[in-house]
Amino acid sequence: MSNTSNTTGSTDNMAKGLEDVVITTTKLSKVDGIAGHLYYRGYSIDVLAQHASFEEVAHLLWFGHLPNKAELQATRERLARERYLTPGLVDSLRNIPSTASPMAVLRSAVSLLGHYDPEAEDTNHEAVMDKACRLTAQIASVIAAFERLRRGQELVEPREDLNHAANFLYMLTGEEPDPAASRALEMYLILLADHEFNASTFAARVTASTMSDLYSAVTAAIGALKGPLHGAANQKAMEQFMEIGSVENVRSWFEKAKAERRRIMGVGHRVYKVLDPRARHLREVALQLNEVAEDHRWLDIALKLEELVESDPYFNERQLHPNVDYYSAPLLYTLGIPVDLFTTIFAMSRIVGWTAHVMEQWADNRLIRPRAQYVGPIDLPWVPLEQRG
Ligand code: CMC
Repeated sequence: MSNTSNTTGSTDNMAKGLEDVVITTTKLSKVDGIAGHLYYRGYSIDVLAQHASFEEVAHLLWFGHLPNKAELQATRERLARERYLTPGLVDSLRNIPSTASPMAVLRSAVSLLGHYDPEAEDTNHEAVMDKACRLTAQIASVIAAFERLRRGQELVEPREDLNHAANFLYMLTGEEPDPAASRALEMYLILLADHEFNASTFAARVTASTMSDLYSAVTAAIGALKGPLHGAANQKAMEQFMEIGSVENVRSWFEKAKAERRRIMGVGHRVYKVLDPRARHLREVALQLNEVAEDHRWLDIALKLEELVESDPYFNERQLHPNVDYYSAPLLYTLGIPVDLFTTIFAMSRIVGWTAHVMEQWADNRLIRPRAQYVGPIDLPWVPLEQRG
């Protein structure tokens, strides 16, 4: 990255998009983009996906170690207790137009949640931990509540006996959640919980670095996640599979997309130069769900399109492979989640990483304030208003 104090020098060594720029250390997650591995606090996601619950992963990221039985019970209970939304927030959700983008609603709701939290401005570690739990629980409740309200349904009270994933499906549908569906969602939540300095986490850390509050940091993160180059790629990937429509159409759609230089959504990554390890797991979960699902169409389309991407020279040369959002799409769809809600489910998982990163930032804070190379004119003469063309 350019390190010059003179902002009118060469731009040759500038890292546009901060590509490959390391700005700090982290103990939260390690992304190995060459070998295709992801670790949370030293544990491979391969191990966590096989053995862990979402609550264990949250504890691991927040506290730095896997919980013992008593700690896990405490984290579960803490998350379950925080699921209830304050009536003031529910009233606000009722007043939001049902046509609003769910990610925009979530962004506003998180900001509003801060007004009801007496600890909102407290940056003491214990208070921040409380808020991390509260936000993790309440983001799930907000998503379920908004979805039900926009469908004209009444809210479903949370159940403290269910885990985070199962309770979310229960609040969304009002029905006893299917164990396979709950575990599939839980796997999704585990796999997306943290990912080093992705754009939304960076946004959270930049905000936190000014010593602003946690709600502001998470609101900023949600705003960053909302973009289609980041979290909304899961929704866009699903829309793309729907546009393709059938397995028979995949090849012609792919050729046309290439000719039009369209981006394949859910493909490509700034760090992974091989298949995203999360995509491998999510593909497996989607395949398992499909064994009992009636409609295999979307996963079949995704599998066929992956085959074409993987055998195409353009994608090979650029090391473009399916990323986490690619197989998230058929997976979340099979779980009955509305397509425009997909990115909020990403946020429902990543809230753990965002809050853990804010805590890490505050443990050794330094204002994040990079430079930009000014490339416009300087010392222009002042032209009085009446003389301007
Ligand atoms: N389809 C077709 N071509 C692509 C794609 C794609 N999805 N992604 C990158 N390229 C091409 C790009 O046109 C460029 O080609 P050339 O060298 O000829 O100009 C080359 O690959 C490098 O692309 P880039 O834009 O410089 O790469 P980047 O690191 O800035 O972008 C990315 C990474 C994820 C934004 C990009 O791959 C992309 O837009 N993918 C589609 C959106 C997506 O799936 N986003 C989710 C990202 S991962 C999970 C998450 O954050 O949520």
